[in-house]
Amino acid sequence: MRRVRYYEYGGPEVLTVEDVEPPVPRAGRVLVRAEAIGVNFVDTRFRRGPGRGGIFQRPLPGRPTGDVVGTVTAVGPGADPKLIGRRVATLAEDAYAEYVVAEASWLADVPAGLDPGDASMLAMTGPVALRILRAAQMSTGDTVLVHAAAGGVGHLAVQLAKLLGAGTVIGTARSSRKLDFVRAVGADVAVDYARPDWPEEVRAAAPRGVDVVLDAVGGSVLRSSLGLLAPFGRAVVYGAATGDLEQIPVAELFALRSVTGFNLTAWRREAPDQARRETDELAGLFASGRLRTTVHVRLPLAEAATAHEIMDARSHLGRVLLLPHR
Ligand SMILES: NC(=O)c1ccc[n+]([C@@H]2O[C@H](COP(=O)([O-])OP(=O)(O)OC[C@H]3O[C@@H](n4cnc5c(N)ncnc54)[C@H](OP(=O)(O)O)[C@@H]3O)[C@@H](O)[C@H]2O)c1
Repeated sequence: MRRVRYYEYGGPEVLTVEDVEPPVPRAGRVLVRAEAIGVNFVDTRFRRGPGRGGIFQRPLPGRPTGDVVGTVTAVGPGADPKLIGRRVATLAEDAYAEYVVAEASWLADVPAGLDPGDASMLAMTGPVALRILRAAQMSTGDTVLVHAAAGGVGHLAVQLAKLLGAGTVIGTARSSRKLDFVRAVGADVAVDYARPDWPEEVRAAAPRGVDVVLDAVGGSVLRSSLGLLAPFGRAVVYGAATGDLEQIPVAELFALRSVTGFNLTAWRREAPDQARRETDELAGLFASGRLRTTVHVRLPLAEAATAHEIMDARSHLGRVLLLPHR
């Protein structure tokens, strides 16, 4: 089978297509024949290497993770043989491959007929988009500020905020093309946060401040966002695309504001039943067409480097998908 790994850190060109034997699932794991693989931003950062003390640290050889959707073809010792034949979504390592090994305990059932783009979102990206809104205790009528709203998590979070009853949703992104997209997926206001005066634009749209901030950009974007929170406002920090781990200025919190961190792995470990229910809830929303994934591009596995180029250029709208058997 074909698989993509990297053996040195660097640009997209370090991604290497190789022919290998399909892996054999160990105890508690399954083998999945991948039909689609959602490419996640974090893997472009791991590929670049750790730099000096950076937060994106993964050893070599690089085995990119991905939001895999496919069919279980084999199970390892202890895994339920009835899983064979099931269509599932799973966050897996060594995911840029025709066959992928996944944890049997974290397989999301994929409704028959669900589009591979939507199905890929059930592995990680959708559950993150939904849970960060709930971690923020978003309630009906809230004003919600979603950063990087044109991205994989972002474009789902905008839609989910609306579905959960948000009043005003403000999405940020760079470039007018992305801002148009952010409005198209349902944001009431789209703000270009590459402009230095972006906080004033948010303030103009939400004069009393925003109730919820969803941020995985970090740095000055997070810092400015804290000042935009209304009294009782909540910010959820779930990443730092800039690599800049901002310090939270405690003085900002005295104005009745709070900040919460989120990480999906920790969430699944601490609240597995609720995490599973939310994945099923998302499957229902996708199946009914109330929630939609925009697939920016579908590429064959051998063009994984192009997928990373697109993400490095920050030009994607929504999901970048690899199709290993195309
Ligand atoms: N905590 C968790 O469990 C968890 C799980 C999944 C993902 N995440 C985080 O969620 C975020 C979104 O993930 P995703 O895969 O859906 O990615 P994505 O949003 O599709 O892509 C990342 C986006 O971040 C924005 N960005 C802002 N500053 C950037 C910078 N300095 N360099 C590059 N991009 C920058 C870019 O949009 P603009 O060009 O519009 O600025 C870019 O398109 C990531 O930060 C990821 O690490 C966290």
